[in-house]
Amino acid sequence: MVTNNIVLKEWISEIEELCKPTNVYWCDGTQEEYDRLCEEMVNAGTFIRLNNDKRKNCFLARSHPSDVARVEDRTFICTTSKEDAGPTNNWFDIGLMKTKLDTLFNGCMSGRTMYVIPFSMGPLNSPISHIGIQISDSPYVVVNQRIMTRMGKEALDVLGDEGNFIKCMHSVGMPLEKNQKDISWPCAANPEDKYIVHFPEDRSIWSYGSGYGGNALLGKKCFALRIASKMANEEGWLAEHMLILGLENPKGETTYIGAAFPSACGKTNLAMMMPPECFKGWKVKTVGDDIAWIKPSSDGTFRAINPEAGFFGVAPGTSYSTNPNAMEMLKSNCIFTNVALTDDGDIWWEGMDGEAPSHAIDWQGNDWSPNSKSKAAHPNARFTVPSSLCPSLDKNWEKPEGVPIEAFIFGGRLSKTFPLVYESYGWNHGIFMAATMGSEATAASINQASIRRDPFAMLPFCGYNMAEHWKHWIDLGKKHHQKAPKIFRVNWFRKDSDGAFIWPGFGENMRILKWIVDRVKGEVSAKSNSFGLVPNFEDINWTGLDFDSEKFNSLIEIPKTEGLKEIEEVKDHFDRFENFLPKELEDQRIELEGRLLKEA
Ligand code: GTP
Ligand code: SPV
Ligand code: MN
Repeated sequence: MVTNNIVLKEWISEIEELCKPTNVYWCDGTQEEYDRLCEEMVNAGTFIRLNNDKRKNCFLARSHPSDVARVEDRTFICTTSKEDAGPTNNWFDIGLMKTKLDTLFNGCMSGRTMYVIPFSMGPLNSPISHIGIQISDSPYVVVNQRIMTRMGKEALDVLGDEGNFIKCMHSVGMPLEKNQKDISWPCAANPEDKYIVHFPEDRSIWSYGSGYGGNALLGKKCFALRIASKMANEEGWLAEHMLILGLENPKGETTYIGAAFPSACGKTNLAMMMPPECFKGWKVKTVGDDIAWIKPSSDGTFRAINPEAGFFGVAPGTSYSTNPNAMEMLKSNCIFTNVALTDDGDIWWEGMDGEAPSHAIDWQGNDWSPNSKSKAAHPNARFTVPSSLCPSLDKNWEKPEGVPIEAFIFGGRLSKTFPLVYESYGWNHGIFMAATMGSEATAASINQASIRRDPFAMLPFCGYNMAEHWKHWIDLGKKHHQKAPKIFRVNWFRKDSDGAFIWPGFGENMRILKWIVDRVKGEVSAKSNSFGLVPNFEDINWTGLDFDSEKFNSLIEIPKTEGLKEIEEVKDHFDRFENFLPKELEDQRIELEGRLLKEA
C-alpha cells in the first residue's frame, strides 16, 4: 500500500472484497509501467503495435462491436429527488441503484487485476484542480488515463493523507471463470447490462460493462462534467463541454475563447485550427479541446483550465487539409481505437489525405478494400494523444490560475436555417442562445434522435437539473458583470439543396473568429437583426475566399417564418422545465418574438 490516506485505504479494501479480483495493482504513472502494460496488451491481443518507422510507439485497439461510443440511455443520475436530475437526465432512485450495483459488481473482477489509478483533473499545482481515484479492471483504461490525465504517484502525493477524492469505480463487466480464456475487448455485450451511474450527492461514479471512451475513462465526462458541473453549481464555478483556444495577433497579444459544441461537431478542429494565409502573423493556440473548468477570480475575470492532459479525438475526417496540427501530433506515442490497419502497419480512416489504401483491415478485423460497402474505420474511431505533442499548444496551457476568457461561443450542427454567426444583445440573451441550441445526431453517442435541443452542448453531461444550470449561468453573469465575456453563436454546418456545406469551415473559420475578437476589443460595429448582432460583410477578411455579400447574407439572415417556427419550438423546449425555467429566459423568448413580429 502506497498511501496513508485512511479513506482511500478503506475504500480500496471494501471494493476488493466486493469485486474479488485476482490481485490489486497501484499505478505509479511511470513510462516503464505504461510500456509494460502496452506490451502485455500486445501479447493478449488487445493491442496491435504499429510500424515503428511510421508511428513510433503507437498502438491500435479494436473494441467489441457492441462497445463503440457513449451509451446515453444507459447513463444515470441518481439523486434523492427526481427534480434534482431534471427532465433531461435518466433519473434513478439511489437505494434501488445501489442494490443493483452491489449485485453487478459482486465478483465482477474475478480472474482479473484490479488497477488503482490515482489522477488529477487539472495541473497538479492548480487550485482549480481536483483529484480522482479510478478503480478499473481494464489495462486499456490505465494506459489511456495516463495520457488523458496527470496519473500516478504524483497525483497520490497531492492527495496526501487527508485529501478528498472523487470515487470512480469501473469494471468492464466480464468476470473470468477458472481457466476461462479472456477476449481482446472484454465488456458486457448486452446493452442492457451497461450502467454508467452517477451519484452527485456523494460525488461518486459507478461504471459497468463498457471499456470505451467516456463510458470508461471516468475522469472525462463522468467526473469532469457530470459530477463537476454539480460541484461547480454549489461552489460558484463552471464545468463545461468547451474547447479553450487563444487567438494570438501579430503583436503577440492573445485573446482566450471558450467554445461549446456538441460531440463530434468540431471542437478539436477549432482548438488547433491553422489560419489561412491572409491572416499572416495570427496563430490559434490550443489550451483544450473538450472540457473547460472556469472559475471567476477575485477580480471577476473568468479563468479557465483544461482539466485534461491529452486529447481523445474523433479520427475520421482528420487530415492535413482539415487539421494539420492533429496530423502532426499523431506521429508517435498515441493509441488509436477502431481505425483501419494498412498492410504496412500504419493506420487509415475515411477522410485522410490522399487515396484510400487498396487493401486494409477494418476496425472489426476484416479485410477491407475501397469497394467494400462498410467503413474501414468506425465513425466514432478515436485517437488518444498527450497534449504535449500538439504543435499549437499554448504556452499558458498548464498555468495553475488558468487563462482569462473574453468570449464564449456556442455552436450546434444545423444543416438548415441557422445563422453562421451572431452576437448576443447581452448576458441573459447569450444564455438564451446557449440554452436553446439545437444539433443533429453524430456518431459520438448511440441512440440519439436526429435533431435535438442540446443546451450548452451539455445535454448528456449536466449532472443536475439543466434549468438550474441556466440559472447558475445567469447568476454568475449578474455577479461578475464587469468582466463577463461576450457571447456568440455560430453554425458551420448549413447545407445547400445538394447537401454540400455552404460555409467552407475548418481553417476558414478563422475569418469568423477574427470578427469575434474584433467585437471583444470593440474594434468593429455590428448590425442588429432579430436574432442578434451580425457582422457587416466588409468587416470580415475575405482575401483568398470566393464569398460574395449575397451568399454571406444568405448565411446570416433567417426568414421571418423560420424564426417564428423556432420561437414555437423553443416554447415546447422550455415547457419541459416547468417551474425551474428561469424567468429571464422566458423574457428573452418573448423579446425575440417581439423583434420578429416587428420585422417587415
Ligand atoms: P467530441 O470529442 O466528441 O466532444 O467532439 P469534437 O467537437 O471535438 O469533435 P471533432 O472536432 O473531432 O469533430 C469532428 C467532426 O466535425 C468531423 O466530422 C469534422 O469533419 C467535422 N468538422 C469540424 N470542423 C468543421 C467545420 O468547420 N465545418 C464542417 N463542415 N465540419 C467540421
Ligand atoms: C464526446 O462524446 O463528447 C467525447 C468523447 O468527447 S467521449 O470521451 O467518449 O465522451
Ligand atoms: Mn466531448
